[in-house]
Amino acid sequence: MRKEGVFITFEGADGSGKTTQISLLDEYLCGKKRKTLLTREPGAGMLGARIRELLLNYEGHISPNCESFLFLADRAQHVDNMIKPALADGKIVLCDRYVDSTIAYQGYGRQLDLDRILFLNNLATSNLKPDLTIVFDVDVETAFSRIGNVKDRMESEGKEFFNRVRNGYLEIAKQEPDRVKVLASSDSIEVVHKRVVALVESL
Ligand code: TYD
Repeated sequence: MRKEGVFITFEGADGSGKTTQISLLDEYLCGKKRKTLLTREPGAGMLGARIRELLLNYEGHISPNCESFLFLADRAQHVDNMIKPALADGKIVLCDRYVDSTIAYQGYGRQLDLDRILFLNNLATSNLKPDLTIVFDVDVETAFSRIGNVKDRMESEGKEFFNRVRNGYLEIAKQEPDRVKVLASSDSIEVVHKRVVALVESL
């Protein structure tokens, strides 16, 4: 299937403000009469919603390997049924989390083997890569204060875990500077939005 659209992913630790920014970008693009698909992982589509429920709210222990496979199963379904068709239709796909989340959270956060995570991601996505990835970088203290007290299974991890996740994102950006751009998300919503628009316009 030839890719006609544009694929943009938003990444960052919980509490980084990326979900606010992806909605603002979607509004901006819709205002310019561009066709978009605003979507997210985990949990797009009906099957995805059920996998998301397990991943975020299951009360027993989920092994790190099992957790990875659940995120990847969600991704495989999402890529095949929603992302690829939207790209073939010429849409701008805006996806809240994708492959880099698994590298940052399961690879760096859970400390699973990075090459294996990359290999499995490539299998799940048939190598579909984003054209642009924006990482919203925030220090762990600020992120924690934004998350508040009601936490899901992933958010309940401690500060050390989230420091590893943050460093993981910065490492990914270092390795792929053309695709991955880091924005400090501590500035105001409007300032960060302008930076996002500038990155997307330059695509
Ligand atoms: P979500 O409520 O969507 O968080 P956010 O609004 O911050 O995106 O929860 C998704 C959680 O799952 C989040 O803690 C990150 C985590 N996650 C992984 O650990 N690996 C992955 O591959 C993905 C997609 C998400």
